[in-house]
Amino acid sequence: MMFTKLSVLFGRAKYILKDEGAVHFIGLAFSRLRRFVYSDKTYYYYEKELTEQDEFDFTPKIPGATLEIIRTPEQFDELVDRGYRFGSWVSKQLIGLGAIAFCVFVQRELCHITLAATTAESKKYVDPFPFKVDFHKGEVCIGNGRTSNKYRGQGLFNYMFSRLFHFLREEGKTTIKFTITINNIPSQNEVAKFNPKRIKLRYIRVFERVYVKVIPLADINNSGKCAFS
Ligand SMILES: CC(C)(COP(=O)(O)OP(=O)(O)OC[C@H]1O[C@@H](n2cnc3c(N)ncnc32)[C@H](O)[C@@H]1OP(=O)(O)O)[C@@H](O)C(=O)NCCC(=O)NCCS
Repeated sequence: MMFTKLSVLFGRAKYILKDEGAVHFIGLAFSRLRRFVYSDKTYYYYEKELTEQDEFDFTPKIPGATLEIIRTPEQFDELVDRGYRFGSWVSKQLIGLGAIAFCVFVQRELCHITLAATTAESKKYVDPFPFKVDFHKGEVCIGNGRTSNKYRGQGLFNYMFSRLFHFLREEGKTTIKFTITINNIPSQNEVAKFNPKRIKLRYIRVFERVYVKVIPLADINNSGKCAFS
């Protein structure tokens, strides 16, 4: 387990260093170090039931962008053998633990990824925020969405989401749950399109002690019940 954790973290660090440069990487590394001891962040927590009516179709602006949905380590290996380049963001171990990777490629180069955790083990890496996901009832936690710098603002997140909804519903999944930090406007704009339930939370952690406070939202239509572990 420790090896998986280190390998996932190392892979992501390497990817960010390459994709966003040293200055961004160093800032992020310091912020992570500080958060190891103390973290105080405000998030939106979202829930969305997967229904056919909410599905939408979207074509990205980049010609030739294709989505691959990877559910097993074998599928991952097969794509690598066919020349698909994942960089170091996607971890094969994590897929083995029950994460599904929604990967958009342009000419076989990974340009967007979002992960969906279908097990408690994989959720720890997809979104460690302490909210309950009833995997046995078809609930899924999504997170780790990232479009590489070069391809941002060209509809890849939109495209991936349009396919994710359909795929998970066809698989018998019932609800997606996820969090977005309060200052991440692009992600909030994107998810507002499918009108999920949303609540605002303040999350404080000092070493292992966690305190979560629900902050009431002004907009009553956007409040929803949720459970925390
Ligand atoms: C958030 C992120 C994944 C968006 O990916 P993207 O492929 O550039 O997004 P898209 O081009 O599909 O745009 C999707 C929607 O996001 C919003 N958006 C995208 N870029 C935006 C920006 N710079 N400012 C405000 N809104 C923005 C828009 O609402 C857009 O919808 P529209 O086409 O109707 O305007 C990308 O910016 C990213 O990787 N950020 C760093 C990591 C991160 O924050 N991950 C999200 C974790 S939840």
